[in-house]
Amino acid sequence: MSKKISIAIDGPASAGKSTVAKILAKELHYVYCDTGAMYRAITYQALVNDVDVHDEQALVQLLQKTMITFEPHQEGQKVFVNQQEVTQVIRKPQVTNQVSHVSVHKGVREELVRRQQKIAECGGIVMDGRDIGTAVLPNAEVKIFLIASVEERAERRFLENQKNGIDTPLEKLKEEIATRDHIDSTRKISPLVQAKDAILVDTTGLNIPEVVTKIKEIVSKQVKFA
Ligand code: CDP
Ligand code: CDP
Repeated sequence: MSKKISIAIDGPASAGKSTVAKILAKELHYVYCDTGAMYRAITYQALVNDVDVHDEQALVQLLQKTMITFEPHQEGQKVFVNQQEVTQVIRKPQVTNQVSHVSVHKGVREELVRRQQKIAECGGIVMDGRDIGTAVLPNAEVKIFLIASVEERAERRFLENQKNGIDTPLEKLKEEIATRDHIDSTRKISPLVQAKDAILVDTTGLNIPEVVTKIKEIVSKQVKFA
């Protein structure tokens, strides 16, 4: 059996990170960790508890009382906040449109990065997010930076929303994605940037199996698939 490694997948919204990460984790029998779900979970808690998303101290206090857990599931994982399932609700537009304001705060990031590094301690992990290769797992054996044009990413999110009964017009989605990418890429603490040793994969025009094939080629230089 080959050594268990850490795989970091970063990139902007809707680049396909979680889709690829879930498939890799399943095939390798690795742990999958969706770090975006953790930022979404604390954003959801802030909205439910009327905590201002710009108030760092209040958010950090809220985070101290917020247990975020994952449960493996056929299609990836279920997300729980203080044992209440929030898998679907954290994907709603209200959360999506506020999450980048929450994730700029140093105190929030420090606590969530600490929890993410704890999850990764077991080894054999596929983690996706914005700062995995640069801050959370700087020593990951494989680092991928996934991108795609903003038009294609908005179309992907549009189709995904339609399946989930969310009816946001395509143009609005494009604006929302571009705004979120801008906040994520320009924040002071751990902005979204490609790590120096990450491999850039442009998924524009590629379907999921094509992306998975490309990524598996990169990963298989480090680890064997069954
Ligand atoms: O799935 P999608 O690309 O829409 O976003 P996500 O991965 O669920 O992440 C939601 C938000 O959390 C991002 O827009 C970032 O603001 C933040 N995030 C972060 O700052 N650092 C991470 N490692 C993961 C997510
Ligand atoms: O995690 P991230 O926000 O980067 O993206 P995702 O949630 O994995 O993918 C966003 C949507 O795009 C999902 O509905 C995927 O099924 C779809 N997708 C696609 O159509 N083609 C790809 N090459 C990758 C993802």
